[in-house]
Amino acid sequence: MTQSKTATLTTPEGQSYEFPVLSGTLGPDVIDIRKLYDSTDHFTFDPGYTSTGSCESKITYIDGDKGVLLHRGYPIEDLAEKSDFMEVSYLMLHGELPNASQKAEFTKSITYHTMVHEQLSMFFRGFRRDAHPMAIMCGVVGALAAFYHDSTDITDARQREIASYRLIAKMPTIAAMAYKYSVGQPFVYPRNDLPYADNFLNMMFSVPCEEYKINPVLADAMDKIFILHADHEQNASTSTVRLAGSSGANPFACIAAGIASLWGPAHGGANEAVLKQLNEIGHKDNIPEIIKKAKDKSSGFRLMGFGHRVYKNFDPRAQVMRRTCHEVLEALNIEDPLLDLAMELERIALEDDYFVSKKLYPNVDFYSGIILKAMGFPTSMFTVLFAVARTVGWISQWNEMIEDPAHKIGRPRQLYTGPVQRDYTPISSR
Ligand code: SDX
Repeated sequence: MTQSKTATLTTPEGQSYEFPVLSGTLGPDVIDIRKLYDSTDHFTFDPGYTSTGSCESKITYIDGDKGVLLHRGYPIEDLAEKSDFMEVSYLMLHGELPNASQKAEFTKSITYHTMVHEQLSMFFRGFRRDAHPMAIMCGVVGALAAFYHDSTDITDARQREIASYRLIAKMPTIAAMAYKYSVGQPFVYPRNDLPYADNFLNMMFSVPCEEYKINPVLADAMDKIFILHADHEQNASTSTVRLAGSSGANPFACIAAGIASLWGPAHGGANEAVLKQLNEIGHKDNIPEIIKKAKDKSSGFRLMGFGHRVYKNFDPRAQVMRRTCHEVLEALNIEDPLLDLAMELERIALEDDYFVSKKLYPNVDFYSGIILKAMGFPTSMFTVLFAVARTVGWISQWNEMIEDPAHKIGRPRQLYTGPVQRDYTPISSR
């Protein structure tokens, strides 16, 4: 980053203060206010962090107005079409696309970490069979710290790398175990002869009684969906991982915190909510009513899968997802009325002034649920898949923070509007 200019702030008391303006390689300049409180005895106030840059990062760049998403400089459209999830994971973690030997070595490392400690399978038995798989993910991923003490020293680069690889490798295994547990089928072990996405589909859908044939179209779509969900700058769950990590918490605990944040319907839980919403709409004749409700502030209703804090144009991932949706349904010869309904909903919303004026476009979650449903995933697993994919983004951002020698514990302040100091009154006089 470079400092090019300064910004002047004048307080109500008439004092003026200069703050450095820093420029990155892309995107808006930032006003460096790290010394603001010491200088002016004022805090900034930005609930929801709509105007706040929380860190410097080299991993992902988003231009919300242009609908641009770059991972280490590479457009998401190129990565989705030309790369694969292992290669994108290497890129996220190490900053460059791997050459053939680097890719082979990285893929082998991930493959050979896909098994989980056998004791971990006991964990599942404590959950009800109908437990939401995201609840299981929060619990089991956080518990990994109890099994892998040899990779929790965050000051040791090698241990950070091992923990990162373990998390990327074991998330699909734990996710598939959560699903198998919910349907009462035996856990399926990972196989070292299968690529990442194929291995996941096998652990999810194969049973001991017969051979499971992996449909290459589905494996390719799964890999693409992982790429599309891999990272997204400082979103709520990534910021949660960074904040948890800033205290020195171990990476397993930090990723469990990210999973918890992602679960919310305003964030990663939206893909599950989109499908529920499409099923509730049921028929395109009901779309005008749902649009009307979404526009009515007092309803508290939101059109799930629409809108975004950063994108005020199409989410480029949604466009790739829509194309993939058509490819998968065609390959499976599935006529899903929900896809027609979703496309009609998108068409009508994008012609409606409310959505146009507020720049509410379909986001990554709008089409993903339809593909996942066609691939055989239950709705309750949709956000789990998002968490599996996002783990590489979370852990890359976590590493970037820990490796920054200037990183500090995150500790925001507040605008206090509670009671001023007052004397305690005994209960007899209350
Ligand atoms: C993800 O941050 C990320 O990068 C997240 C993510 C990632 O990869 O990590 O991209 C993944 O979380 C995608 C978003 C999935 N969530 C949904 O689809 C839920 C529905 N969307 C909304 O809840 C909302 O759009 C958010 C949460 C996504 C964004 O909320 P913001 O930025 O806080 O915007 P806002 O709530 O201030 O809304 C601005 C205006 C408001 O109206 P006014 O107060 O200005 O009159 O737009 C309206 C909102 O009421 N609005 C919507 C709407 N989204 C915003 N109105 C109807 N339906 C919607 N979906």
